[in-house]
Amino acid sequence: MDTPDSKNIDYQRGTVSAVDLHDAARREPSLQRGEEGRVGVTVLAISALILIFGGGHLFSTSNGFGSSIYVSDHYIPEPRPDLGAGGDDAAAVAWIDRWMSDGKKVYANCVACHQATGLGVTGQFPPLVGSEWVDGGTSRLGAILLHGINGPFHVAGRSYSQLMPPWNSLGDDKIAQVLTYIRREFGSLPEGEDGVVTTEMVQAAREEFSGKANPYTEAELLAIPADAALPGAKVDLQTGEPLP
Ligand code: HEC
Repeated sequence: MDTPDSKNIDYQRGTVSAVDLHDAARREPSLQRGEEGRVGVTVLAISALILIFGGGHLFSTSNGFGSSIYVSDHYIPEPRPDLGAGGDDAAAVAWIDRWMSDGKKVYANCVACHQATGLGVTGQFPPLVGSEWVDGGTSRLGAILLHGINGPFHVAGRSYSQLMPPWNSLGDDKIAQVLTYIRREFGSLPEGEDGVVTTEMVQAAREEFSGKANPYTEAELLAIPADAALPGAKVDLQTGEPLP
């Protein structure tokens, strides 16, 4: 409800004269539109100057924010170490070392029987060390790995009559790697390309022995000439590229 008491006292009827009211209004400095901003503009201008000059100073003294300010002018880096092979890929590992370490991984399939040492288990699983089969031609080895052996079977003068499982479910490269591994690690071949079996050679073996359905008997394996080698180019041990 509007009672006289609830209104602004100045406007109570009869207590303020219109002339007094206008005098008061005239005394006050007028606050015109936009005038509130005057201080703000000054602050803005000063801030902008600080930013421009401060930023410029920081940029010009920090070397464009590059990391080179941490390096002394007298620093000359050491040349990269030469790891032997020379040339650009000096740091690369030789092909044969990678092939052998991959072959060692595949050999994990064989350790249960032939043991990590390649010495086998007397009377049960033949050794690969000192085995005429491992040192012999790659054709017999390819045939053995792809199709397995059904004993009795003689290795280094002893007889074994278990089953050597076929490994034809492994890829050509894996078979090539494990054969290279057993020949170079357990065999007594001269160092060099002789021990190396390539993927190309295993592909040839698959082709050559594709007609075989059951594991080999010793007689069947002996029918393959002892020094027969799977066809395929010898490779450069550094690069793995076929030799001319
Ligand atoms: C389940 C046991 C077993 C496993 C696993 C096994 N072999 Fe054999 N391996 C034999 C037996 C047993 C013979 C001997 C032939 C026989 O008695 O049938 C043999 C024979 C061989 C021979 C020829 C004889 C010799 O000692 O040189 C080679 C080479 C060979 N295995 C390589 C391998 C490789 C490589 C692997 C792994 C990819 C492998 N074997 C996995 C049991 C096994």
